[in-house]
Parts: sequence; structure tokens; C-alpha cells
Amino acid sequence: MIDDDKRLAAEAAVAEIEDGMLVGLGSGSTAAFAIAAIGKRVSEGLEIDAVVTSLESGRLAARHGIELLDFEDVATVDLVIDGTDEIDPAFRAIKGAGGAMMREKIVANAAKRMVVVADGRKRVARLGGVPVPVEVLPFARSAVLGELRRLGAEPVLRRAGADPYLTDQDNIVFDCAFAALDMPDELAVALSTIPGVLAHGLFLREVDAAYIATGGRVDRLERH
Ligand code: A5P
Repeated sequence: MIDDDKRLAAEAAVAEIEDGMLVGLGSGSTAAFAIAAIGKRVSEGLEIDAVVTSLESGRLAARHGIELLDFEDVATVDLVIDGTDEIDPAFRAIKGAGGAMMREKIVANAAKRMVVVADGRKRVARLGGVPVPVEVLPFARSAVLGELRRLGAEPVLRRAGADPYLTDQDNIVFDCAFAALDMPDELAVALSTIPGVLAHGLFLREVDAAYIATGGRVDRLERH
């Protein structure tokens, strides 16, 4: 059921893609449905350029026959389709459960339009039901931990088995729960200014639209 909703939301968003676009491919299980749907359209003749937001999405795109540009050479993306962990009525999102928030945010920032695809569980009245992932240079681990606690977070080092989880850039992640996420704008600024913090999962201005599927029905929400 949930997978059906993810697929429906992803396919609805993929319908926005037109010939000649440079498309950003997001990361995570819902974005994976979008990559599959884009691959199908490419096999049917759609002509696009594409970039990815993670190494895993790059592997997936290759499996679906989508040729990729190196994002290092790209300044502007027409449309990025990505998943989310939460989205509130103001189109503010928390992303990064899959650890890809740094590249996702860079690509989102380069995009003329960012569309989020999700099942209905991700739609929340208030942000904060999931931790905010924070990508940290390993060198700065202890120093940043103290700073995050001073901001009111309960940081948990993300692990992959016995070892720290490492991002595509070989950095560590602290998943930061907050008792209340009342002032996300202030928090985003505070996180960004800690030396050693390289990215965080608060996407407060990037999202332009969302396709959210619940029980087989897709809602398209547009930021005005
Ligand atoms: C990747 O780091 C994330 O930002 C994902 O886009 C997000 O976690 C949504 O993933 P799912 O679609 O798998 O829930």
C-alpha cells in the first residue's frame, strides 16, 4: 500500500518532465520510483539530461538506462524530483534519512523547481516528528556534538553496524531530535554557522510543489 502510494506520487511528478529538460534525480525509496518512471519514459523516447543527488541514485539511474551529466559541470537544473521525511503546510521539509541531504540541497538550490514526492505519512502539521540529520566533518565530531547540544538537540551518531555511517562525502551524521522545532529558520541558520557542520536536513525554502499520495489518491500541492 505505502509502496503503491510512493509510486503513484512519483509517477505524477514525472509527468511534469518535458523534452530538453535537465532533471535532478532525488534519493531514497520514493525518488527511486521516480527514477524508474523516468527510465521508462526515456526508453519510450523522452530526451532529457539528468544529474543525481547521491551515488545510489546514480547506480539506479544507470540500471534504468538514464544517462547522467556530472553535476560538477552543471549550474542550473530545470526540475528536481526528490523524496522527503516530513513536509508541513508551509512546504518546509526535513530530509536526509538516507544521508543524501548535502547533495540534495545543492541540487535543489540549483533547480528552478523542486518537487517533492511522498506518501501521506510524510505530511505533518508541524515539523519535528523526525530528527534533523546533520552532516559533520569527522575531524569536528566532538566539537560539533557540544554545539548541537547547546542548541537543544539530542544528537545521536548515525551508525552502519558497529561503525559510524558515512555519507557519499565520507562524513558522519548526527540525527538531532529537538523537544520542539518552533523556530526552524533560526535553527537552520544556527546549524549552518557551526564550523564543521557541512549540511543539514532542513529544507525550508527549496520546495515548490509536492505530490502526496494517500490511499491511492494523489494530491498536488503548489507553493504560491
Ligand atoms: C535521502 O537522504 C532523503 O532525503 C530521502 O529523500 C528521504 O529520506 C525520503 O526517503 P524515502 O522516500 O525513502 O522515504
